[in-house]
Amino acid sequence: MDSDIRIREATNVDLLSVRLLLSTCFLEMDDVAIDDFIVAETIDRTKIIGIAAEVNQNHPEIHTVAVHPNYRAKGIGSKLVRYILNRQPEQRERIYVHTVAPEFFNKLGFLRADEVYYRGYITMYYPLI
Ligand SMILES: CC(C)(COP(=O)(O)OP(=O)(O)OC[C@H]1O[C@@H](n2cnc3c(N)ncnc32)[C@H](O)[C@@H]1OP(=O)(O)O)[C@@H](O)C(=O)NCCC(=O)NCCS
Repeated sequence: MDSDIRIREATNVDLLSVRLLLSTCFLEMDDVAIDDFIVAETIDRTKIIGIAAEVNQNHPEIHTVAVHPNYRAKGIGSKLVRYILNRQPEQRERIYVHTVAPEFFNKLGFLRADEVYYRGYITMYYPLI
């Protein structure tokens, strides 16, 4: 499956597909710009099946990771997160995430932070250096 998808930066053309996938996963786009998203698409480029976004307000942070329910447990979510972690790692010390899926991020090497973010959400970070 891994070779049947490719990851790329999102563009304005992807806005509708990103919104659709977010709503399928009961997630919001909030104020995140489409340029801050990456997408996983099928190799024939007909379907966007996964998305992730990195924002940098107070610190670099993974805002969203979502994979279409029909395509889960195939490594796509991990591939999206690794793509973000591998982008200019020398310019960032840590990437944070506030998540309801700590086991998923733990498997990717994220560590639990002390901070409390919001009820039900666990704050984690990935040490880049
Ligand atoms: C979380 C999510 C992105 C994972 O995507 P995925 O493509 O299914 O993940 P992967 O196939 O790369 O899974 C990697 C590992 O994490 C585990 N995992 C995946 N989702 C998990 C979850 N929600 N909770 C705990 N473990 C999870 C898998 O079992 C797998 O473990 P393994 O390597 O031992 O087999 C996907 O389930 C999703 O879109 N969920 C809804 C949105 C969400 O909760 N996003 C995260 C909050 S920011």
